[in-house]
Amino acid sequence: MKILYIFFMSIPLIASDSSFNQEMQEYITQLKIEALKIDKNFEDFDMERGEKIFTTKHLGKRGKEISCTSCHSINLMEDGKNIFTNKEIKPLSPSVNKKRLSSVKEVKKWLRRNFKDVFVREGTPQEKGDVLYYINSK
Ligand code: HEC
Repeated sequence: MKILYIFFMSIPLIASDSSFNQEMQEYITQLKIEALKIDKNFEDFDMERGEKIFTTKHLGKRGKEISCTSCHSINLMEDGKNIFTNKEIKPLSPSVNKKRLSSVKEVKKWLRRNFKDVFVREGTPQEKGDVLYYINSK
């Protein structure tokens, strides 16, 4: 028990960015614990790493080079467009779209799908946390 206690006290468990709502903070905490299990040197998520994940192109699911910005645009405060369906996507930035990053269920579902679209695999806990810090900063 004591070892566990020290383990949990040694990482910044409470999301440092309190602009996340309660359930999102809990999700961030969960991602941190998972990230630390994979990398014992893990300290915190990083929005600059998140920016790179979000803007860099990869050979996507359909064999075409795409990035997260292909659908969400480079300016997260503006509308995006789904390149597969041509449907409009409301801005991802929580500062202009209050619904964003408010539901863990939605966030989990779309991160799973969208990482597969772009990286043809699921995101790691660290990648998910990094990208959520990045989106939340916009
Ligand atoms: C093929 C188009 C496409 C790509 C590429 C894409 N997304 Fe999405 N994303 C969507 C759609 C469609 C939705 C759901 C529709 C909506 O919420 O407006 C969505 C929703 C989301 C959400 C949910 C936000 C919320 O709280 O409502 C997050 C987070 C997200 N995307 C992150 C990403 C990240 C990170 C990447 C890159 C790994 C990415 N997306 C790449 C189309 C895309």
